[in-house]
Amino acid sequence: MIESFDFSHQTSNLSYVCSPFHAIPMKLFIGILLIGIFSGAAHGRCSRGCDTALASYYMWQFSNLTFVYQMTQVPIPSILSYNPNIPNQDSVQAFSRVNVPFRCDCLNNGEFLGHVFKFTTFPGVTYLTIAQEYYSNLTTPEFLQNTNTYPATNIPDTGVTVDVAVNCSCGDENVSKRYGLFVTYPLREGQTLESVATENNLPTELVRSYNPSADFSAGSGLVYLPGKGGNIYMLFLFLFFTFCF
Ligand SMILES: *[C@@H]1O[C@H](CO)[C@@H](O)[C@H](O)[C@H]1NC(C)=O
Ligand SMILES: *[C@@H]1O[C@H](CO)[C@@H](O)[C@H](O)[C@H]1NC(C)=O
Ligand SMILES: *[C@@H]1O[C@H](CO)[C@@H](O)[C@H](O)[C@H]1NC(C)=O
Ligand SMILES: *[C@@H]1O[C@H](CO)[C@@H](O)[C@H](O)[C@H]1NC(C)=O
Repeated sequence: MIESFDFSHQTSNLSYVCSPFHAIPMKLFIGILLIGIFSGAAHGRCSRGCDTALASYYMWQFSNLTFVYQMTQVPIPSILSYNPNIPNQDSVQAFSRVNVPFRCDCLNNGEFLGHVFKFTTFPGVTYLTIAQEYYSNLTTPEFLQNTNTYPATNIPDTGVTVDVAVNCSCGDENVSKRYGLFVTYPLREGQTLESVATENNLPTELVRSYNPSADFSAGSGLVYLPGKGGNIYMLFLFLFFTFCF
């Protein structure tokens, strides 16, 4: 026997949740939503950033998530939530990649999209080791030098802070509006456009169109890949429109 449910009680609860929003004039409301959706320009000059981007951190032999946390200040549970393939923090494999979420900001008066991580120095560090080891090539020694005042030959080793700017992308509306989350992906020796696309389960054409001038076989340099991680904002929008209008 199929029971018939009475939804009237639930409906009135939902009306209660949604009712404050009905007071907002519809046009204003849609305007606010559109600003949210189209926030953030492509890498290059920017006008605003986006809440989340991902950094593809290549795990070198003795790195672990505690270390990644120390470098980025991103809590381990938050990192794990973007890496469903990693069941727990002790099962991270060396020589694999971990996606680290961070806020992508429009920096230097709109010059570029990036995030500034803070690194505390100790004896023996150089811009080279900070970029190529501690931040796994998410930045370069040259870029560190350009964005910090300490001369490369004389970085104080007394626990001063070095700004580690990592570039990011919030997408490119001319390519597609479907993707809202982008991975800053340092290329490695031996990779090609095809291998990067295959490794990330993305169509080659899509990867190319987000990086029109990148040399994927260069063995170094950054490219930007559409990422997965559930667009919470779109989910929220969907639920909101479904239940409130
Ligand atoms: C994590 O890696 C750092 C750097 O290699 C190391 O010093 C530390 O002992 C490691 N921690 C664990 C829990 O493996
Ligand atoms: C970063 O790039 C340099 C030069 O290509 C390479 O030697 C180094 O192993 C890379 N770092 C990591 C953590 O893979
Ligand atoms: C980050 O972007 C800036 C501005 O486009 C660029 O000058 C810099 O070389 C980039 N850094 C890296 C590590 O690619
Ligand atoms: C998108 O294309 C238009 C027209 O070709 C151009 O003016 C605009 O700068 C492009 N936007 C981006 C983010 O590249």
